[in-house]
Amino acid sequence: MSPSSAPIALFDMKAQQGRIRAELDRRIAAVLDSGRFINGPEVAELEAALAEYAGCAHAVGVSSGTDALQIAMMAEGIGRGDAVFLPAFTYTATAEVPLVLGATPIFVDVEEDSFNLDLADLTARVERIAAEGRLRPRAVVGVDLFGLPADWPGIRGLCARHGMFALDDAAQAFGAALHGSRLGGHADATALSFYPTKTLGCYGDGGALLTNSAERAALYRSLRTHGEGGSRYEVLRTGMNGRLDTIQAAVLLCKLPLFEGEMAARARVAAWYADRLAGHVGLQSVPEGAESAWGLFTIRCADAAERGRVQAGLQAAGIPFGVYYPKPLHRQPAYAAAHQAGFAGGPPPLPVSESLCERVLSLPMHPYLTEAEVERVADAVIAAL
Ligand SMILES: Cc1ncc(COP(=O)(O)O)c(C=O)c1O
Repeated sequence: MSPSSAPIALFDMKAQQGRIRAELDRRIAAVLDSGRFINGPEVAELEAALAEYAGCAHAVGVSSGTDALQIAMMAEGIGRGDAVFLPAFTYTATAEVPLVLGATPIFVDVEEDSFNLDLADLTARVERIAAEGRLRPRAVVGVDLFGLPADWPGIRGLCARHGMFALDDAAQAFGAALHGSRLGGHADATALSFYPTKTLGCYGDGGALLTNSAERAALYRSLRTHGEGGSRYEVLRTGMNGRLDTIQAAVLLCKLPLFEGEMAARARVAAWYADRLAGHVGLQSVPEGAESAWGLFTIRCADAAERGRVQAGLQAAGIPFGVYYPKPLHRQPAYAAAHQAGFAGGPPPLPVSESLCERVLSLPMHPYLTEAEVERVADAVIAAL
């Protein structure tokens, strides 16, 4: 097969596995030998390594990114009568959790260039909900979409003024940094996902919560084990079965030593794409002081018709792509009623989220892409415009 026709992966987990296969076999065999499949020592070892990497005081391993969000909101007692503000342009898990807990998700518009929460729109919605007095502004879930940190100083300032909890949904952004420090301490709590295609992914489901608050970390540990207290059969609060499996912690420990190198490789791939695509399509702009983890590389076409042409061109060239996300959350049947119920006078429009869903396209992104592969993808995009 010539290099110009070799398949390109949207995400590549095989190349990485090849580099660490012997260590994976050794670490997984150690768990099999110990039989400590739940709360084995690998979980605490991973938690210490994550906290150190992220530069925060506490890391608590949990069963998925979704459960990380749920445990964080349960710990704050978020529920009926509470408004939880979050972007309309994100993955469903961000909005699902407040709704499951009985709270009302309030969808907020995003910025055209960064794809992240629009602080002006967020502020206006928080102030309107507060003025209407039907719901209590309780939390903001900022998402670092595709790996790019949201405007955390801005979000935190707003949360401080309204007494709200700031939760960072960093499911797509482990490894990203803002103003010189990694995500993990920019919000009151930070939720990570270790879903296999994330920047740090395990071989199943997994997640973690990062925080600088010892009180919150203790609550998260209790909530992930059915709300248990100091002893196993003391139940202090309603919790859930939300632990991280020992085998997944062992897998993540094998991957962590590669992580810094993989982050640098993702940044290189993003720079190659940007070099070739700038001026042809819209790119996710990286604000001053932000370092993206480049979980995905997402372009913005001029309109739906242009995206259709690029999709057809990539398909014809055998190049995989994804559309994250084809529909804003407030248009999803599961959230339509909650969306309408949030504001007394009906919800304000979300034009940028709606428009982006018609125009975005994610290109292959992983640390093992070569410059020649990036060139092939970029050439196919440009030829299809
Ligand atoms: C922004 C965002 N939040 C939350 C999640 C949920 O993570 P998980 O799949 O580990 O439950 C994801 C994962 O896809 C995500 O992309």
